[in-house]
Amino acid sequence: MKKVQFIVLLSILCCIIIGCSKDEPLEEVIIDDQPLLSPQYIMNIAHRGASGHSPEHTISAYEKGEAMQADYIEIDLQLTKDQQLIAMHDDTVTRTTDGKGEVQQLTLDEIIDLDAGSWFNEAYPASAEVVYEDETVPTLADVLGNFGVDANYYIETKTPEKYPNMVKELVATLEEYDLIDDELPEGQVIIQSFSEQSLQEVTTLAPSLPLIQLLNKDALKQLDDERIAAISSYAIGVGVNYEALTDAQIEAFKANGLLIHAYTVNDEKEMSELIQRGVTGIFTNYPDRLTNLLEELKADQ
Ligand code: G3P
Ligand code: CA
Repeated sequence: MKKVQFIVLLSILCCIIIGCSKDEPLEEVIIDDQPLLSPQYIMNIAHRGASGHSPEHTISAYEKGEAMQADYIEIDLQLTKDQQLIAMHDDTVTRTTDGKGEVQQLTLDEIIDLDAGSWFNEAYPASAEVVYEDETVPTLADVLGNFGVDANYYIETKTPEKYPNMVKELVATLEEYDLIDDELPEGQVIIQSFSEQSLQEVTTLAPSLPLIQLLNKDALKQLDDERIAAISSYAIGVGVNYEALTDAQIEAFKANGLLIHAYTVNDEKEMSELIQRGVTGIFTNYPDRLTNLLEELKADQ
């Protein structure tokens, strides 16, 4: 065989081999007909609700997430001065309402008077809706009461070191809304935190709740095999900042039986790449984009 022919043949063989191996992971995952906590299922998590379309952590944002077929409503928790759990990312009301101040210095009555939607209309006029002007800050109970036992909840204990009663109040509220029950589908409620201590407290009070250890960029940089093994002793998975996530870490998480949920991914190309690399769930402000991508992947299978 001439040298040129050999090179052409070798190139064709390489393309076939690379092409096949690139497609392999997508045949392993999917997409439908799997339990929520299966490593073969890709979770669509509406980050602070469909917060790319509606003001974050409002009933509108959660409704939109549900309508866009997200698997989970993601809820960050803060605790008011009078020990009421509210859905809010920041520990102050300043960014996402027309009020000011620390949540732990304000009562629920003071907080529910605030406008939680107009800031969004001003910041994102292309997505603005008049109804957002009437949005208020929901309590956790409001959300659970509104969406009921048929929705799935992915709840974060935010800055729990500031709130000694947070986990106790969380477990009590979940019990009140019949969301701690062995009869419910596994994974209907997931608890996530950057704080291992907070997750351990959840285990003590409600051992059946599955846990996700959140890892930010710094935590990922410091991660070693010992820490990954330790996480797998109390959590079903990790929630990771996708910008710092390495392929070696993905392999190590999988080897330890951990689910891998990447945050916060809004670009379809990046979603697709992360699924190809082996993540098993995505937090996104645009659950419609992930729903469409998963439909496309399913159609290609
Ligand atoms: O909970 C996953 C992700 O939401 C963590 O980041 O700051 O948006 O709560 P943050
Ligand atoms: Ca969160």
